[in-house]
Amino acid sequence: AERGWPELHRIPHPPRRLPLLGDVLGIDRHRPLQDSLRHARALGPIFRRRVFGNEFVLVWGARLVADLADESRFAKHVGLGVANLRPVAGDGLFTAYNHEPNWQLAHDVLAPGFSREAMEGYHGMMLSVAGRLTDHWDRRLAAGRTVDVPGDMTRLTLETIARTGFGHDFGSFERDRPHPFVTAMVGTLGYAQRLNTVPVPLAPLLLRTATRRNAADMACLNRTVDELVAARRRSGAGEGDLLDRMLATAHPVTGERLSPQNVRKQVITFLVAGHETTSGALSFALYYLARHPEIAARARAEVDRVWGDTPHPRYDQVARLRYVRRVLDESLRLWPTAPAFAREAREDTVLAAEHPMRRGAWALVLTPMLHRAPEVWGPDPERFDPDRFTPAAVRARPPHTFKPFGTGARACIGRQFALHEATLVLGLLLRRYELHADPGYRLTVTERLTLMPEGLRLRLERRHRPP
Ligand code: HEM
Repeated sequence: AERGWPELHRIPHPPRRLPLLGDVLGIDRHRPLQDSLRHARALGPIFRRRVFGNEFVLVWGARLVADLADESRFAKHVGLGVANLRPVAGDGLFTAYNHEPNWQLAHDVLAPGFSREAMEGYHGMMLSVAGRLTDHWDRRLAAGRTVDVPGDMTRLTLETIARTGFGHDFGSFERDRPHPFVTAMVGTLGYAQRLNTVPVPLAPLLLRTATRRNAADMACLNRTVDELVAARRRSGAGEGDLLDRMLATAHPVTGERLSPQNVRKQVITFLVAGHETTSGALSFALYYLARHPEIAARARAEVDRVWGDTPHPRYDQVARLRYVRRVLDESLRLWPTAPAFAREAREDTVLAAEHPMRRGAWALVLTPMLHRAPEVWGPDPERFDPDRFTPAAVRARPPHTFKPFGTGARACIGRQFALHEATLVLGLLLRRYELHADPGYRLTVTERLTLMPEGLRLRLERRHRPP
């Protein structure tokens, strides 16, 4: 950062710095994001950290983030955790550099897979996967057992993206343990996170066992994906899903197609990005619903009103669950499950008329802190209150203050997909069960680049109401 930020000395940093180690003393190595949140609270809207000789600038003040969202002066930066995923996801959509031609190509070819018409087409499959979840939960309930929320939300969201995007069935609900693809994914995400907490030249040494493990995990991801693609090539085109687009659709203007190497990276990208963060978002929402019975009751009343007794709510009936959607937004405010994104200067510029940046200099946006900025969210930002997202409240806030899906051209392509899936599932679960948290449970958030409530289990009660 020294080179890119000429007036770095004006940006505060934590005390007690060591020449070599930087700020790593007292660091929570397994929870780097929550560690940064602690520093953010103490140091204010922009600060820096030094980790093994590398200096990073972190930003969360609303005015600063709004300026970083200016696409004419800033763009996505592929750094830290995202850069560490390059060996896994290569020039796939999420990890591609802005200048790589495969980004625009894949974006243009795949974007129609996220149109409203495409979403309507996925709705029936989403409903059927959700039915497997409620069957599973009914069985747990009948056996007098609690349910494993993060585990089951991961089963659900993996099956949803696999089914809708790739015509594939991982059989997650028929397994006691996570599918090997999930275990390998969790391994590579955790490894990409750990790479940030050791000095780069020493990584092969310090993380020797982990590096070997990571190679095996990557091989597992590649193998899974290669088999899935080979099966599709054998069976011929599906019903125009994401995989068909990746394999067969030419760019509308240039006529170009994705190369086989790039397809492999895209399939991994979509299978991972398409389920891991939605799973966390659903898990946090269920945590808050179980913790706030009065909010759950209001959401449940809405579902009963909008859906009635229909066993198969229609696509448009999901969009009409406004309050359920606010519960989801409010969960993503407190725990945006992809908790940071990085922005770099396209040219020499001055951030918020205050901090000069050279071309290529970058900063990490800490979304969970932006989402708690008191000047935006008021004096009690930790309070869970879905009414922060009524249309009037949203209109009253400045733009770029709620960013769980990132910003600009590189913002999340799967946003509507995730929101539709999660709202549908919350609606189905609220209508079917009362959710009870273990009163002794204290929210603990695990990190593997993404966030997840650790060890959350719920006790269910079947509502005496059809269907
Ligand atoms: C990008 C969050 C669901 C696919 C992003 C980014 C964020 C994000 C913050 C921008 C990252 C950056 O700037 O570096 C989330 C959250 C989700 C979610 C919180 C769920 C609640 C999904 C789903 C899919 C998906 C369901 C696919 C079906 C992608 C892809 C990108 C992306 C491909 C890269 C887009 C590009 O650079 O062109 N997501 N996402 N995400 N997301 Fe999501």
